[in-house]
Amino acid sequence: MECANTKPVLVFLILAMASASALGQFGFFPPIPGMPKTPKAPSGAPKAPTGAPGVPNIPFLKPPKGTRIGYYSQSCPRVESVVKATIKKHVDKDKTIAPGLLRLVFHDCFVNGCDASILLEGPDTEKEAGINALLRGYEVVNDVKKEVEKVCPGVVSCADILALAARDSTVEAGAMTYAVPTGRKDGRVSKASDCNNLPSYMDSVEVLKKKFADKGLDTQDLVTLSGGHTVGSVTCQVITYRLYNYTSSGGADPSIDPVFLKTLRALCPFNGDGWRHIPLDYGSEFKFDHSFFTNVKQARGVLESDQRLWEDSSTQDIVQQYIGARGMHGFALNVQFGRAMYKMTNIGLKTEDEGEIRKVCTKIN
Ligand code: HEM
Repeated sequence: MECANTKPVLVFLILAMASASALGQFGFFPPIPGMPKTPKAPSGAPKAPTGAPGVPNIPFLKPPKGTRIGYYSQSCPRVESVVKATIKKHVDKDKTIAPGLLRLVFHDCFVNGCDASILLEGPDTEKEAGINALLRGYEVVNDVKKEVEKVCPGVVSCADILALAARDSTVEAGAMTYAVPTGRKDGRVSKASDCNNLPSYMDSVEVLKKKFADKGLDTQDLVTLSGGHTVGSVTCQVITYRLYNYTSSGGADPSIDPVFLKTLRALCPFNGDGWRHIPLDYGSEFKFDHSFFTNVKQARGVLESDQRLWEDSSTQDIVQQYIGARGMHGFALNVQFGRAMYKMTNIGLKTEDEGEIRKVCTKIN
């Protein structure tokens, strides 16, 4: 009897702690031990600008020089609503667009900054690099640009459109929204050879950490952004080596859960169709949620690099944080994902006279 009465109190306490830790990210409460800390702004630091109504700001990250939230509030006040509506139209027709755009912005930002250089067409451009062969969503960005040009010609950069489109896509998939500072300029250079250093699914955690650190992103960002794999798919050709010839005797990667190995082998048979797409977050392909991290913990990570996040002690704790108590830690993931996306989509920006506003996203003016 006594147990039955204390249970709801315990549940409430657990939820309250989880919620406090999540809200602690915003600085409302002290974080509980083990949760990532939010750096405090120095006293007298300029107040972060306020985002659009209802859009949580990232109060502890300052927009890069030359950008601000609401950069187009005078020159193109409708830009964000046009981007949002156009993304919604495309995602409603084809859910695979949302993960496509999220991956597109990652591959743009990691190569010479977020300057839409990935969208430029021509021989030996980034788009032509082998590692970018499976990127998708280009036609959607081009369509968004066309719609934006109708309301404010020559004002909004493709780099800003890409950052907004990635945000709105993840929101369509169920993520919480976050503010995106705008004011990026488009780059004029795009070289396939610059893509050699993009993170690979065969990289060790050490190498991934180094590649992220080179872009100003820390271990927390690495794990959080890998959570982007909560949506989208991978082609069989990328994982076949894990299923059939990982060991010298032709065995599978021993870190895969044996039951899941059977599922993966059924989805990607030996000598089967290498172009077949299978979910990165098995069981929850189109929903932005923390199940990706649960899968990783249960040895059901599809990419080797994702599974390593659990094998490595420096990243395991962060994976565990996102699993935590259901629900509330989903909120913590959302907050951290917005924060990490904010950082990633601000890498190496070209602002003011360092770039241009392209007329169309596929070629320089
Ligand atoms: C940590 C290093 C990363 C590696 C090694 C990696 C690797 C990959 C690979 C191999 C694929 C599947 C490609 C294919 O066969 O179609 C993929 C898909 C994807 N990646 Fe990553 N990725 C990483 C980080 C990220 C980040 C930071 C994001 C964004 C925040 C991201 C978002 C995605 C999405 C959404 C997909 C699914 C794309 C689709 O369905 O079209 N990835 N990634």
